[in-house]
Parts: sequence; C-alpha cells; structure tokens
Amino acid sequence: MSQAANPFADRPSVLMCPPEYYGIQYEINPWMDRRRQADHREATRQWERLRDLIQETGATVYLMDPVPGLPDLVFTANAGLVYRDQVILSNFRYRERARERPYQKRWFQQHGFRTVDLPEPYHFEGAGDALFCGPTLFGGYRIRSHAAGHQWIGRRLGCQVIPVELVNPFYYHLDTCFCPLAPGLAIYFPDAFDQYGRQALRAHVAELIPVHVEEARRFACNAVVIGRRVITNTGCPRLHRALRERGWEPVETPLDEFVKAGGSAKCLTLRLDGEDAAAWRREG
Ligand code: ARG
Repeated sequence: MSQAANPFADRPSVLMCPPEYYGIQYEINPWMDRRRQADHREATRQWERLRDLIQETGATVYLMDPVPGLPDLVFTANAGLVYRDQVILSNFRYRERARERPYQKRWFQQHGFRTVDLPEPYHFEGAGDALFCGPTLFGGYRIRSHAAGHQWIGRRLGCQVIPVELVNPFYYHLDTCFCPLAPGLAIYFPDAFDQYGRQALRAHVAELIPVHVEEARRFACNAVVIGRRVITNTGCPRLHRALRERGWEPVETPLDEFVKAGGSAKCLTLRLDGEDAAAWRREG
C-alpha cells in the first residue's frame, strides 16, 4: 500500500513555540504553583539555548506563533501525534489547554499535514502521551489521555498499541517517564507505572534504561533525541553516564523555568518528521 509522504521527511525537523506568553497562570499538574512564577527572561534564555542545541544537531527548527493567554502553547509535544502525513490532534483534558487546539490545527494544515480529529469523548494529549518505539505505539493513560483513545488511534493508523497506565501524578504524561531512543531501546522511570505497565514495557522493549528517582524529578526521561544526541535538563549525571556507556551523546541544558510548569526538553518540542525511534520513519 502506498503511503502519503511526510512533508518534513527529508531531514530532522522540530516544532517549537517561543515562550513569549509562557507563565504559571493555572495549576493543572502537581508541579505548577501560581506563587512560583517563571522568570520571563530566564525562561527565554533557556528556551533559546535548547533551540540552539537542537539546531547544532543539524535539525531544522520550525516555529509556531505564541498566543497571549495560552501559556502552555510552548509545550508543542502536546499539539498532536505525527504519523507520516497525518497529525492526530490533541483533545486536551483541561479547558485551559483546549483553547490551544485551533492554533495547532491551523499550523499543521498550513504546513502540509492532514489533521485527524479524535472522537470527542476521548482525551488525548499528543506526543506527550503517545510515543513510538519501533513499530509499537506506547500510550500513557488515566491522568491526561484515555486508553480507548489510544486504541482508536491504533485502528486508524494500523499499528500495535500498548496502553500503559500512569499512576504517579508527578509523571502525568508518558514523556515524563518514558523515552524511546531506538527500536528496542528506551529510558524509563519504573515508579511511574504499575506492575502491569512495567511488565508491558519489558515485554515490548528489549532494553530499558532505568532512571533514578532524583533524576526522574529532574525530568531525565523528558529528553530530545536526534541521531545519537540526547538533550536533557541539568542534574541527570547517572543517566548521562549510562547513555555514554552505550555510545550515545548526552547533552545537558538548564530548563528549570519550564519544570515549574511540569515540562522540560522533550515537552518543548515536536518531531515533525517522526521520532528517530519510530519505525514508520524509515519505511519509504
Ligand atoms: N503545564 C503543562 C500541562 O500540564 C505542561 C505540559 C508538559 N508537556 C509534556 N509533553 N509533558 O499540560
């Protein structure tokens, strides 16, 4: 069967959104506290440094316009799930973020993607909760996304879906506790999952690199992976050592201003050509 081409397939391409209107204006996860505001200048510096590191890997960064009143639009991982020329748009759990959707939809349509609306009753938060490791789509559910929504996506895309329940409110999106590096290889924080979820991950990913609780809190699992480069927040030395031992090139950059909103490197990005670990990327 011939597949429509991904419009960004020729090179690693990343969507970001400048933090012009970023701030802690509401509290929808346990990291957020309106009394602990983000410092605007520092957030801007941190975001620019992350953008520069991504560009240094050879990837192209595309920008979405920031919108006043949408402080979490910076977290482009939640805009949708990219699969070839399709984007499954998010159905945000909280109305504070649901207002991002029309802007995200317009951006994708203007850049050559077919947008797919998930049936309304299903909550779904894009690449924050849906990550490919090889041909398999892992779907985090309960806190932000519905398991049945992941199943719907699996039928729509014709891929195997493994829903994994997220049991710790601090790790409310799958990308805060699980990060595929390559087919059969991923980083994870075991305590974010129940016994069943850990078993499901072990059964479907040949090698899992566990992250220490102190580094999980530093968002070690929320890494941007481009080629052999793995970009994380500062304060993850054990993970960086484990990555270097396996031939990866970890890089750290401070992202504390975004941790205040419950996000870090990966949340601030969306791979438009598909994550390196996603098998569909290489299939023509
Ligand atoms: N404040 C945002 C929220 O709670 C942070 C989103 C982080 N994004 C992510 N992909 N984990 O929705």
